[in-house]
Amino acid sequence: MDETGKRRVLLGVTGGIAAYKVAELARALIRNNVEVQVAMTEAGTKFVTPATFQALTGKPVATDLWDESFPNAMAHIELSRGMDAIVIAPASADFLAKLAHGLADDLLSTACLARACPLLVAPAMNREMWDNPATQRNLHVLRADGVAVLGPAAGEQACGETGMGRLLEPEELLHAILAFLSPKRLAGRRVLVTAGPTFEAIDTVRGFTNQSSGKMGYALAEAAATLGADVTLVSGPTLLAPPANTHFVYVTSAAEMLNAVNAHASSADFFFSVAAVADYTPEVASTRKIKKSGAPLEIKLKPTVDILAQVAKMPAGPFCVGFAAESENLAEYAQAKRKTKKLPMIVANLVQHAIGREENEVTIYDDDGAHPVARALKSRVAHAILEHAIALFDAKRGSATVTPIKQAS
Ligand code: CTP
Repeated sequence: MDETGKRRVLLGVTGGIAAYKVAELARALIRNNVEVQVAMTEAGTKFVTPATFQALTGKPVATDLWDESFPNAMAHIELSRGMDAIVIAPASADFLAKLAHGLADDLLSTACLARACPLLVAPAMNREMWDNPATQRNLHVLRADGVAVLGPAAGEQACGETGMGRLLEPEELLHAILAFLSPKRLAGRRVLVTAGPTFEAIDTVRGFTNQSSGKMGYALAEAAATLGADVTLVSGPTLLAPPANTHFVYVTSAAEMLNAVNAHASSADFFFSVAAVADYTPEVASTRKIKKSGAPLEIKLKPTVDILAQVAKMPAGPFCVGFAAESENLAEYAQAKRKTKKLPMIVANLVQHAIGREENEVTIYDDDGAHPVARALKSRVAHAILEHAIALFDAKRGSATVTPIKQAS
């Protein structure tokens, strides 16, 4: 940040056809009062010329590790100093591999290694390159190193194939970057999130579960961490990697989830109960695999504890946010759940709009009624939910540490 409060970003452009979208991103960032310095890899310059970015940013584009115009000819050090973040967009598979292994053989990779600021990467590549175990391994390493990974999205690709690997749209990247740069409104706050399905064992190999992917809960945990919160994510079985900068607690059954939540709820400021917790569990789980017979099989179920309702009853408990997935009568069912469980806020969506998808369309219900959130990537919806929760939390309890929400223009 400079002395006027303006944020500064080093925008790194690597080799990929999606580089053309990043010209739009550079412009949008500048319009939002972010100072942008562009650096490009040699491959990046094959897709969009440095002249384009120079014209958009009004600054020469850095491409050369040996550029003598930098003080002490230390371009790689100077470039990242004073930056609030480095954003690599598009981030090619090759560049991600370099970052994961600490390689530094050109200006941009060297600046990343020498940085003293957060790093965000927006991958873009062919779907097979994305799915390749080597790329996934590299992303795992980067996330563990605290690098924020923005996207990618699924869809039609420049190569003509369809799948994961599209760069997020400039608008989505803009929103994610501005959220990242925004004041850490949840600094000093503890946020507890449950996510994913639960698995209720019937015997040693079978069980009841549901189709929750966990994506919404993980997006919320990640968004809260981005705002500076100390986040604990209690997750049922999912295929997702634990988000960076969160305490991750893996559970399987509703009973295990209850125990994990009980261990953290009293010290939490916020509780987001996103998990699709089983309402019933087998009365007894067979300790052997049940053998088939021609006769009908009855499995007696008993109700589980409603984790959210129990936390909401705690005398000095956290600010509780419930989630309701409905197939019909959204407003009526969601408000009824909110009132029964005595929640200040519930987030509702139609199951057909959300399960397993990257995007979601939700409506927030509170004492003032319904607040629709436009259809968007789950990461963006997560930020909207957090903003609403923070505003209600502040109104209810008052807060000196949580500064008011600054809307991106
Ligand atoms: N929830 C919970 N513990 C349970 C069941 C649900 O914490 N045992 C939470 C969910 O995480 C979600 C909210 O309660 O935040 C959903 O409320 P609920 O009425 O249980 O929804 P459904 O299970 O969908 O209810 P129904 O099947 O009757 O629609």
